[in-house]
Amino acid sequence: MTEMLASDKDKTRVNLPMPYGWFHVLYSHELEVGQSKPLNYFDQELVAFRTESGVAKVVDAYCPHMGAHLGYGVRSHSGTGAAVVGESIVCPFHGWQYNGEGQCTKIPYSAKVPPRIQRGEQVLGSWQVREMNQTIMVWYHPEGIAPLFEPELIPEAAADNDAWTAPHIVSRDIYTHMQEIGENAVDAAHFHFVHGTDEIPEVAAQVFDGHSMHGSLSTRQPTPRGVVDANIENRSVGPGLSHVWFTGICDTLLLASLTPVTKTHTRANYAYIQKKEALAGGNAKLGAALLANLDRQQAEDIIIWNRKKHYKRPLLCNADGAFMQFRRWYSQFLVE
Ligand code: FES
Ligand SMILES: [Fe+2]
Repeated sequence: MTEMLASDKDKTRVNLPMPYGWFHVLYSHELEVGQSKPLNYFDQELVAFRTESGVAKVVDAYCPHMGAHLGYGVRSHSGTGAAVVGESIVCPFHGWQYNGEGQCTKIPYSAKVPPRIQRGEQVLGSWQVREMNQTIMVWYHPEGIAPLFEPELIPEAAADNDAWTAPHIVSRDIYTHMQEIGENAVDAAHFHFVHGTDEIPEVAAQVFDGHSMHGSLSTRQPTPRGVVDANIENRSVGPGLSHVWFTGICDTLLLASLTPVTKTHTRANYAYIQKKEALAGGNAKLGAALLANLDRQQAEDIIIWNRKKHYKRPLLCNADGAFMQFRRWYSQFLVE
């Protein structure tokens, strides 16, 4: 947990609406068959569960019967989420059951059920879920609009891809709006000042295309074998999902997900995978050093993010990069 700061209370520091898009809520391995878990994202209480047939579902947390929270079990399930039976989650309070589409599938103690339930109407809010790249994602739109794009499949990150390592996961709480964090991708100059790289990396490409964005940076990185040319390619799909390829030192892929907890509190989930071939021949230390270095860089960025103010019109100089293009692209995800 990042420390709470006096400046967190300053709501004028960053005032932007929550963006829409696909957002990470759990890694696949964090939700086993028959398991449920409470989630707190988008300023809401939610619950994720994995049905007996293995499908991940996300529904609103409060039971439509009398309002119990579905994410906290009792008796044999105390300390975990509520029970899952077949394709439904079981409310801990009176045992009503709900499927992932928010329909009530069973009231165990009443032969007669309310008309809405008899008609099969949805009585509990449910979320669009996608599971790929070892990640469970949900679609959030403040106005409840259906998905406008899809997350992308990353073949390297498939659970059964043996050529790549199991993910090394780092989760962090960051106390700012996620747009401020996303801006890092177009900010070449900060690498030298915040992260101590020898030179300011060169932006080789920066493309904004519909819901996605793609950038490429060339850097010179110090390694135990001397300074080498390294390349950083990043691709974002919406505001919540980015994939960053580091090549040149030891092929590493970062799946960087940002999910809003509130408008000014973002949870960052970083999963790193590395090409096993690149770690062979005594390169394991180099691979570990690269991860440690990237992890350190994120901690350094957070010192800035947790305290900086969002300026609508920053005083930019020529070499600052595509900030305003980035913000124009990002603004499509901000509806108020
Ligand atoms: S509150 Fe959920 S079954 Fe009664
Ligand atoms: Fe950074």
